[in-house]
Amino acid sequence: MKHIDIYEILDGKYTEQKVTVCGWVRTSRDSKNMAFLELNDGTSLKHLQIVIDKAVLSEISEFMKLGTSLKVEGTVVKSVVAQDSFEVNAENIEVLGKCDAEYPLQKKRHTLEYLRTMPALRVRTNTFNAVFRVRSVVSACIHEFFQKRRYTYIHTPLITASDCEGAGEMFRVTTHGFNTEFKTEEEYNAADFFGKKAALSVSGQLEGEVAAMALGKIYTFGPSFRAEKSNTPRHVAEFWHVEPEVAFAELPDIIEIAQDLIKHIINTVLNECAQELKFFDAHFEKGLIEKLKSVVSNNFAVMTYTEAIEKLLESGEKFQYPVEWGCDLMTEHERYISEVICKRPVFLTDYPKEIKSFYMKQNTDGKTVAATDLLVPGVGEIIGCSEREADLDKLLEAMKVRGMNIDDYNDYIALRRFGSVPHSGFGLGLERMIMYVTGVQNIRDVILYPRTVGTIS
Ligand code: 4AD
Repeated sequence: MKHIDIYEILDGKYTEQKVTVCGWVRTSRDSKNMAFLELNDGTSLKHLQIVIDKAVLSEISEFMKLGTSLKVEGTVVKSVVAQDSFEVNAENIEVLGKCDAEYPLQKKRHTLEYLRTMPALRVRTNTFNAVFRVRSVVSACIHEFFQKRRYTYIHTPLITASDCEGAGEMFRVTTHGFNTEFKTEEEYNAADFFGKKAALSVSGQLEGEVAAMALGKIYTFGPSFRAEKSNTPRHVAEFWHVEPEVAFAELPDIIEIAQDLIKHIINTVLNECAQELKFFDAHFEKGLIEKLKSVVSNNFAVMTYTEAIEKLLESGEKFQYPVEWGCDLMTEHERYISEVICKRPVFLTDYPKEIKSFYMKQNTDGKTVAATDLLVPGVGEIIGCSEREADLDKLLEAMKVRGMNIDDYNDYIALRRFGSVPHSGFGLGLERMIMYVTGVQNIRDVILYPRTVGTIS
């Protein structure tokens, strides 16, 4: 159907021209001689006003129902009320799809919790229009960042036989239905599709390292799956994961790359999503735009885990989970460190080896690893990052201590025998990044269909 996108009309490209526009009715208002509709086709956060002169179109009742989809022919004119806007004087209107009276988006504002009960319709609200525009712009600029710097984009497998994070929080992949035919787990796995236990990948890192040991600089950008039973505002079971892996990079090098990427994302959103940011600033986080501007013009803090623990203990703050050296930091601690202690994004470095993954480079102190998490105000951790253990013996030792099955990682281990080099990488959770740049506080509201423990729709 030939038609013009609403964003182009609002950009003023078609003034005084005859156009056809399509969209869904967002609001409608009837008066004695005139009627007004606001039409949205998803290409703009702003709606296009359609002005109906009842002397021209008299049968208007079907057009006025919210949610109805319309095709409108008319002339674009400058708005009388809003000087810098445009509207269409309708000459002909066709109903493309009627909308039931039960259409739930009748009121102007609904709570995000209520909107979650209707994932197929919530996308039609301003909030989700803005979220998905930002998400799209961010995704494109992540590719741009790496492509311009000659990283190779790698597609790592989603089905895997190894557990990258070693946390055992994986979704099984099996073609077996329920049955009691097998006496042992080994028998059961051997008879399965792959002849061994398989699962959905929690991270493309291990395969990413394989690629980086040949291509030098690579990145992956795809879904990761975690069967964590964490029912929190920042965990989903399926999230989008950006994972660069860089040969010859040590921890300070990868920290610099991570900071550059975050600043590139924020700068792009500031430049390309001005309307959306204004909306989020008004409705979700007062001062959001100023916050983002300040983030791009200052360096992030860098602090060791040990120093952060000391500062948390000195703070006198009452935390729900106790703080001591060696503890895994909880969201409340992470947020306190970035929001109160550092007041900006902070790379927390050198975590105790016991609370981190087997693949991280062991520091010479024998206690910590060359790992860093990027913690940001309002969200907590958005990046998990480390230099990788490049020494074969140390890697094998770390795996043994964790009781891992070495045979499942043969390819990965072999990299340390065939020209091993220092290398580093990180994982950025796309949804958490979107939360940070929009001020939306629940991860369920920045993804089309959130998958969380106990719910799937
Ligand atoms: O810190 P994580 O577990 O690190 C890794 O997976 C490494 N293998 C990455 C690497 O070095 N290549 O996860 C990285 C990021 C987290 O900081 C977070 O932003 C996101 O992935 N993430 C989640 N996002 C939403 N829901 C979940 N359940 C997430 N788990 C991790």
